[in-house]
Amino acid sequence: MLNARLDRLNDYPFQRLADLLVGVSPRANTAPVLMHIGEPQHAPPSFALDIIAADRSSWNRYPPVQGTPALREACAGWLRRRYGVPAAQLDPHAQIAPVAGTREGLFIAALLAVTPAEDGRRPAALMPNPFYQVYFGAAVMAGAEPVFLAARRESGFLPDLDALAPELLARCAIFYLCSPANPQGATADLAYWTKLLRLARTHDFLLVADECYSELWYGAAAPTGALEAALALGPGPHGHVFDNLLVSHTLSKRSSAPGLRSGFMAGSPRTIAMANRLRAYSCASTPIAVMDAATKLWSEESHVVATRALYRAKYDLADRLLGGRFGYYRPEGGFYLWLDVGDGEEATRKLWAQAGIKALPGAYLTKPEPDGSNAGDSYLRLALVHDLETTEAALTRLAQVL
Ligand SMILES: Cc1ncc(COP(=O)(O)O)c(C=O)c1O
Repeated sequence: MLNARLDRLNDYPFQRLADLLVGVSPRANTAPVLMHIGEPQHAPPSFALDIIAADRSSWNRYPPVQGTPALREACAGWLRRRYGVPAAQLDPHAQIAPVAGTREGLFIAALLAVTPAEDGRRPAALMPNPFYQVYFGAAVMAGAEPVFLAARRESGFLPDLDALAPELLARCAIFYLCSPANPQGATADLAYWTKLLRLARTHDFLLVADECYSELWYGAAAPTGALEAALALGPGPHGHVFDNLLVSHTLSKRSSAPGLRSGFMAGSPRTIAMANRLRAYSCASTPIAVMDAATKLWSEESHVVATRALYRAKYDLADRLLGGRFGYYRPEGGFYLWLDVGDGEEATRKLWAQAGIKALPGAYLTKPEPDGSNAGDSYLRLALVHDLETTEAALTRLAQVL
């Protein structure tokens, strides 16, 4: 009775973590610190919450699937300022699709891009390994073969594009890339994005640039976006600068507001029209009051500057407390620690029992490679989402216990 493809989805990592920790309790008198999930605990800007609280008039209207015009304009304005996209190349009303959290957009991207197998040739969905689980779930449910590309330390934590077999590229329907990457924090530079977009255009697949951590960066300059590669390459095979590209941005990380469920996708007019068509059949939009709050958040940068400074201060702490151990490095972006602890599951159990810290075993974010090895086995991921004081206490305990 149920779709057999569902059997291919393993339990979500957080369910696996709950199973792993059955019967393990944190030591008494230790306040637990939940660092297994990328859920920012910084206060979201109060001006956004005030907009939602003050709304008395929109609750008996269905929110428009394509978002409000003001929200689309705010998203486009932000893309123009952040990536230098000329106004002529970006029509807010044809090229921006607000989504109820980018998880939704990333999922429907596979339904947009994957055509069922023809001539016995199975479409492939390429993604880095480790990967965000939604890429995998979307690929499976869309009928594509998920193909995991090693993104180990040796290749700068990004897939090696030169190693892709022509046979694989020929049947690639969609390629997900997250930059800054979750969990390793690596960023794709202009040359990398350009090479990947060129491949997308040559082999006519959809490149999905998941840039949800784009504003959390710790180098000298903000990470390059996939749109900058599109601008450098110019119009693609379908005549538009955004051809073969869908970029995805969220307020969950930038504005510390995962509860808003608000993000957007940008692409060519044709891709966005089809995304909106699909969303009209399948998705619920965020409430209008949330769209109004989101409109203000995309138009305001000072809270993002403050958020970035807070994450930087936490990495300063991590440099001091973890430097030289567990293969620690300061990532280029994002808000995770990706630590090589030998046995990720054992370390996770130990951290919960002896330090009250909930971490996520790296293996829950990876799949075994063709030779059976699993790059995630020896890692664990910690999200630096708490305030400075909590973070310092947690990392101090972690360094003592592991
Ligand atoms: C890599 C990655 N992409 C997308 C998302 C989804 O974010 P949201 O649905 O809150 O916009 C997350 C959330 O943790 C993520 O880590």
